[in-house]
Amino acid sequence: MTDAAQLAKGPGDNSTQAFDVDRIREDFPVLKEMVYDKPLVFLDNGASAQKPRQVIEAMTDCMEHYYANVHRGNHRLSQLSTVGYEKARESVARFMNAPNQDEVIFTKGATEAINLVASSYGRTFLKEGDEIIVTVMEHHANIVPWQLLRAEKGIVLKVVPIDDDGNFLMDEFEALLSPKTKLVSVPHISNVLGTILPIEEIIRKSHAAGAKVLIDGCQAVPHTKVDVQALGADFYVFSSHKLYGPTGIGVLWAPLDILNAMPPYQGGGDMIDRVTFEETTFQNAPHRFEAGTPAIIEAIGLNAAIEYVESIGLENIAAHEVGLLHYATERLQSIEGLHVIGNADEKASIISFVMDDAHISDIGTIIDRAGVAVRVGHHCAQPLMDRYGIPGTARASFGLYNTKQEIDALHDSLLIVKEMFS
Ligand code: ALA
Repeated sequence: MTDAAQLAKGPGDNSTQAFDVDRIREDFPVLKEMVYDKPLVFLDNGASAQKPRQVIEAMTDCMEHYYANVHRGNHRLSQLSTVGYEKARESVARFMNAPNQDEVIFTKGATEAINLVASSYGRTFLKEGDEIIVTVMEHHANIVPWQLLRAEKGIVLKVVPIDDDGNFLMDEFEALLSPKTKLVSVPHISNVLGTILPIEEIIRKSHAAGAKVLIDGCQAVPHTKVDVQALGADFYVFSSHKLYGPTGIGVLWAPLDILNAMPPYQGGGDMIDRVTFEETTFQNAPHRFEAGTPAIIEAIGLNAAIEYVESIGLENIAAHEVGLLHYATERLQSIEGLHVIGNADEKASIISFVMDDAHISDIGTIIDRAGVAVRVGHHCAQPLMDRYGIPGTARASFGLYNTKQEIDALHDSLLIVKEMFS
């Protein structure tokens, strides 16, 4: 049986070893799959990333040897599960350089994390006429919760535009900032365009205007080191499943003084201090925001994912992915009639594109037959599609296990599309 000391052990940081993509690929069982008799080329990591054996085994180990509910039992298995669950919180804090692990709230995902902020912080601290600024490249998860809040509280939503290349327009942002701005909520990296936003400057300017800042870090944490203390953001959210961890768990980080001023989001077990029929008092963060039995096995999987990424080193991953991005951009742009959507100055490993004459759903279907998986559609960013006057894009998004050979396979499969439609 796994013991508490083993569970509580720190990460094996061996990130000094050379980045070896072939060795890394061995960790991902699914990459050996064949799709229509072709080797799987998985380029849909922006939607969700594949899972290494280390994550699968950590979750299986919990279920086979020490699974029980957490924070509720003094029996051996409950103690072990609690250690595993809380170790995940500690790992997330280390991963984001959070000063205190109690600032890490586990949610169902990034979407729930934003909804938690909108429901708890928004309902309590925002009032009619207060303004929230988002960008036109927002995922629906960073639009709709604020619209729901607008319907209830009469807040105002303002939208920062982008240029045709997908660059965030700082001047336009500054023109929208005013004493009425109470929250600025922006992505760290656009899930469609790959644009890396200048979040340090956005945070600095927002704070100078007296506004809090929420960063949607879903597309950032698998690709770049995030240091919440250096950033100074007020809320940072991400999901586990894009970070090679399981679905069903995500993170809301915020400083303790903000969290402990926020009322609970949901009521139930584990978040209370004392309950009577007359009155209930609540725990502080993190438990205040984790009502009910949490995603225990998933937290243990997320911990394994973080340790896995740390063992390879985010700098190494980022360098590998920048190489892939440059190679893919060059290869795809060599295809006549293919147009890349999003050429921002600072860009992560995501390429959206359209092709003359070929509908995006045809692109997706045809290249799937060659074993190549990309996402096609509006990518949960319909206002951004409206900005470009297109219904959607095809999007290749790269992860740490992708290779230049796979980009060649994407390129060759797109030549088949071109052939069929020209
Ligand atoms: N937000 C995810 C994506 O961009 C699902 O595909």
